[in-house]
Amino acid sequence: MRHCRSARALTALVESAVALAAAVSSGCASGPRAEDGGISTTSSVSVTGTAPAKLGPDCKFGKPVVTGCGGAEVELRSTLAECGLPAEGDLTTEQCNVLCETFPTRGCRVYTRPGAKEKVYCDASNPCLGRLASRGRHPRVSARRAPLHLARAARMEADSVDAFRELASDLAAFGAPVALVRACRRSAQQEARHARSMARLAVRFGGSPPPPRAARAKGFRSLESLALHNEREGVVGEMMGALVAAYQSERASDPKVRGAMKAVAREELEHAALSIRIGAWARAALGPRGARKLDRERARAFNRMLATGPAGPSDCQSELGWPDRAAARALLAAVEPVIL
Ligand SMILES: [Fe+2]
Ligand SMILES: [Fe+2]
Repeated sequence: MRHCRSARALTALVESAVALAAAVSSGCASGPRAEDGGISTTSSVSVTGTAPAKLGPDCKFGKPVVTGCGGAEVELRSTLAECGLPAEGDLTTEQCNVLCETFPTRGCRVYTRPGAKEKVYCDASNPCLGRLASRGRHPRVSARRAPLHLARAARMEADSVDAFRELASDLAAFGAPVALVRACRRSAQQEARHARSMARLAVRFGGSPPPPRAARAKGFRSLESLALHNEREGVVGEMMGALVAAYQSERASDPKVRGAMKAVAREELEHAALSIRIGAWARAALGPRGARKLDRERARAFNRMLATGPAGPSDCQSELGWPDRAAARALLAAVEPVIL
């Protein structure tokens, strides 16, 4: 995709991804998870210390490192057997509390990649419908119920307004083409519409719109940090957001959700495409070494998203048309050839 694709081709690809994902969906929730409200984050276990009895006594592990789209990774320094962990499936609440430590999570599981050490992925409560600004942080409480989930989505869309304003301003400062700067400003306006739309849905499902919050965008330190962030939050995060929204626009049983997500999907896809254009410009500006770094970041973010998926609500899944884990994986896998 970084070598330019027409918007029509991209839209067609997303449509076929949605059809493919619908075919693999099991039609049920995405499996057992930690209880609603998130997992307690009161653990004070040493980051590299020996784990308590909930894990194997010889289990060593690192500190949670926050990743794109809301989760965190914990590197295992012992084998799965030493840690007493399964290679697949959700870990217990006790295990997540210890491994994810202070990171606010609603569940966790082992994440394996060929040729790499196993990690534990700590799910956040991020519905993947927004783009963080440079110093943005995901909320510290989980939102599993539909009203809270939608209010969370509204908050993230509102945060995306700040993210695109910051991006426009920093791209201009780093000498990016005017077309990219203008597109970011236009995207900020679209994100403001998404925020209003999600807030209306939150109210429709019995929730409240999120209160206003001060902007957290303070600017990127360098073009490289902007570009790395763009790979995670833009290319992969916004693409996942577009795919999920497109899926919801087809599968939600609530007509208001279908209508709202249709508009969101189209514009999120524009944001993903814009992120790819920004990535292409940044690669040229940073040179071959910088470009390779961005390639690695994109692949890491993509594979992580493929392994974990976006966080969805635990109820009202059919009303919202939220993809289960199999469908989310199929959605993303379908666009792999144009992302990587
Ligand atoms: Fe959005
Ligand atoms: Fe967006």
